[in-house]
Amino acid sequence: MNIRKIEHLGIACRDVEKVAGFYSQVLGLPIVSRETIEAMHLKVIKVRTGESVLELLEPLEGESVIRTFLDKKGEGFHHVCFEVEDVRAATGELKANGLIPIWEEPKVGAGGRRVNFLRPGQTFGVLIELNQAVE
Ligand code: CO
Repeated sequence: MNIRKIEHLGIACRDVEKVAGFYSQVLGLPIVSRETIEAMHLKVIKVRTGESVLELLEPLEGESVIRTFLDKKGEGFHHVCFEVEDVRAATGELKANGLIPIWEEPKVGAGGRRVNFLRPGQTFGVLIELNQAVE
């Protein structure tokens, strides 16, 4: 698997606009996108720092993953995302290594990127996302 870089860090937020205000106004990071991913019931704001991005995630009605995380652990760091050349190939490689990605096939996530995840129980406590640049 060819991991190119940390593409973003995901942060769970109760109020994504408020958190984006902190990163943009206090820390001076530019907001690069705002989107609602209906299929995943998430509101996502991205702020950029150099080559990397912080992905601020607020659960919408019906969402469970981020909401459960917030209820259990509160706001804060949620996942690290590595950019790979080919997320479908990476998914196959991980399965061949005995890991069980969350989805059989990658799904379309924020920014239209194909994504998949590895559960923290298999990765020493860190939720790992893999994604692939949109061509
Ligand atoms: Co992410």
